[in-house]
Amino acid sequence: MLPSPWRSDFPALSALDAEGQTYLDSAATAQKPQAVLDALLGYYASGAANVHRAQHLPGERATRAFEDSRTRVAHWLNAANPAQIIFTRGATEAINLLAYGLEHLFQPGDEIVISALEHHANLLPWQQLALRRQLKLQVLPLDDRGEIDPGPARELIGPRTRLLAVSQLSNVLGRWQPLAELLALARTQGAITVVDGAQGAVHGRHDMQALGCDFYAFSSHKLYGPDGVGVLYGRGEALARLRHWQFGGEMVHSAHYQHADFHGAPLGFEAGTPAIASVIALGATLDYLGNLDSAAVAGHEAALHAKLLAGLKAREGVRLLGEPQLALASFTVDGVHNADLSHLLTEQGIAVRAGHHCAMPLMQTLGLAGSIRVSLGLYNDGDDLERFFGALDNALELLR
Ligand SMILES: Cc1ncc(COP(=O)(O)O)c(C=O)c1O
Repeated sequence: MLPSPWRSDFPALSALDAEGQTYLDSAATAQKPQAVLDALLGYYASGAANVHRAQHLPGERATRAFEDSRTRVAHWLNAANPAQIIFTRGATEAINLLAYGLEHLFQPGDEIVISALEHHANLLPWQQLALRRQLKLQVLPLDDRGEIDPGPARELIGPRTRLLAVSQLSNVLGRWQPLAELLALARTQGAITVVDGAQGAVHGRHDMQALGCDFYAFSSHKLYGPDGVGVLYGRGEALARLRHWQFGGEMVHSAHYQHADFHGAPLGFEAGTPAIASVIALGATLDYLGNLDSAAVAGHEAALHAKLLAGLKAREGVRLLGEPQLALASFTVDGVHNADLSHLLTEQGIAVRAGHHCAMPLMQTLGLAGSIRVSLGLYNDGDDLERFFGALDNALELLR
């Protein structure tokens, strides 16, 4: 039931099958298709070379492939210009870059607005900036479904708001957030807008010019690409306000003992040797994804998700967190500790995530110590869910 036509593109799935492992943790990191493995190996096997430095053939080839990836990312996001794409180590580094690069724009008493569901990656950099500059961190509350509530947002986003930073899709609650409304509110106040696309970027293509945020960050590894690389997209005027934050090779026009003249975006924000192979393979990832039938992928993922929700709802004592719309479901079971359940699922070869999912304040808000999260990739199929439910029933029988 619900076979995935793309499963055989991912060698890891047969390796995991052979080990008796059912992988249901793609929101943490996704497996990679053969095309991405080929791109990684192809770069190393044809001669590694540093980028933007060397005039020799391998150096030129690496630089061309690296910049080609930037162009493909820009195209993927419908950015007007590849120079709006900064390669980072991941979404976390992209948001940290912003929290340092924008620091000079804040005065004591200014406000940063985030939401109650943020991953630590989109909370701690702003919290620490607020502590450094004596700013106020405002937290937008959620409704029962797990969506940022636009009502209180209309009150909390005000004239003191200098920056709004929110997730596109929650890694715990699996709901799209009302970005259009929130970004419009922030824009009315002249605030800078940051979207954490770490989970959202995986589902469909997002048009940056239509979305209209100042900055958008995501990680390649959740998008079926290699780890060690992420993307920070910035709108032209917003990028121009960024101050440099890391200093080193290949980010200057000229350097002197007492001063230096830095490049703007993107190279001015990519100091040092980047993750060359990973950046090149990210380009191959987007080619792979771009060649899929996106409606078929979305249909398959929706059918799997519906089966996941129906199976969870059918089990006594299972409580879903919010009302997830896609990709994942987090849940608790009455009278059962998530760590005990996770232990028994792990013993049966079920790879799911348990705990606070790097969203401790959200868990505190929900009054929970943690939850179990099942998350899906395009390679999962109905059998994966059957195995999960079988293991869940066994575990609950033991625990009750
Ligand atoms: C919503 C969200 N934001 C940010 C991140 C951080 O991503 P990374 O660890 O790849 O930098 C994650 C990772 O789980 C996430 O789910």
